[in-house]
Amino acid sequence: MNNRKKTGLLTGGGILFAVCFLLMLYFGKETFYVEGTEQNSPSYDSHIVLLTEETGNEYWQMIEQSAKQTASNHDIYLESIGPKKADPDEVLRTMDQMIAADVDGIITQGLPGPRFRDLVAKAEENGIPVLTVDSDMPDSERRAYIGTDNYNSGKLAGEELLRATEGDQHVGIITGNLESLNQQERIEGFEAAVENVERVDVVDIRESNITEVGAAQAAYSMMKQHSNINALFGTSALDGIGMVQGVEDITVWERPYMIAFDILPETLTLLEEEKIDATIAQYPEKMGEKAVKTMIELLETGYVAPRQHTETDVIRQGDTTS
Ligand code: BGC
Repeated sequence: MNNRKKTGLLTGGGILFAVCFLLMLYFGKETFYVEGTEQNSPSYDSHIVLLTEETGNEYWQMIEQSAKQTASNHDIYLESIGPKKADPDEVLRTMDQMIAADVDGIITQGLPGPRFRDLVAKAEENGIPVLTVDSDMPDSERRAYIGTDNYNSGKLAGEELLRATEGDQHVGIITGNLESLNQQERIEGFEAAVENVERVDVVDIRESNITEVGAAQAAYSMMKQHSNINALFGTSALDGIGMVQGVEDITVWERPYMIAFDILPETLTLLEEEKIDATIAQYPEKMGEKAVKTMIELLETGYVAPRQHTETDVIRQGDTTS
């Protein structure tokens, strides 16, 4: 090959290489560059996870909204995760994944059973503090519980029944789920309030699986089986609403005395319509806010008070219409 040919080939090759290189740069950028990912991605001080019992549940949505608001006010990324319908196994699996993802802190409902306890211990070993919200698990290594004093809230319900009724009261209790500590404590508190009062007895306790339909069925079947039931107590947020439906499906001379739990909008409407007599208010927004603030304090100082109760009140007919 003579010199001219060689030079021509080298020049051609060089031009081809330069063109390919420029094309690669251009198309590479077009293909892989995602606008704003680097410059615009917000940087947060910490990443906290809130594990909720049910994403479709208005009560949990209130906890979530206030937790998110509080977190964003403090430059914290709060990720809220939960099953659409209550599923403790799924919550436990997610908790394990969050530990593996090395988040900065976990806020969760306390769950019954050894697996939860083990996961809290695992989180601690990995330097991830856990707070319980709404329902506690005191014999775990959780750092603190934020929420209602559930035993006292059940007691409040029992005392209200004693105050508002006369004569024999045969009570049917509808509870979200007999495994949950918060439900157990509410029942225990209620029973303690009425235990020395002869005119009151608890006839039956049934689960609603924290659904309205479940509560309606439980109220209906309980009243069919025990015709003497003349008072109902619902211990979780949708139980009162379901109880009303169950009672409406039965022909009774006089509707039972009914005391519900929580102040979801529908429950307040039922109070105004005089379809229930009272409800025990707890404040999920306060729980969400307080849980995040407590987590921030914990991450900053390493210690927080282990029991932080949010308020409860009795709300009666007439209280909502002023
Ligand atoms: C309880 C929650 C429960 C919710 C169900 C509330 O009263 O505190 O634990 O998830 O009711 O609707």
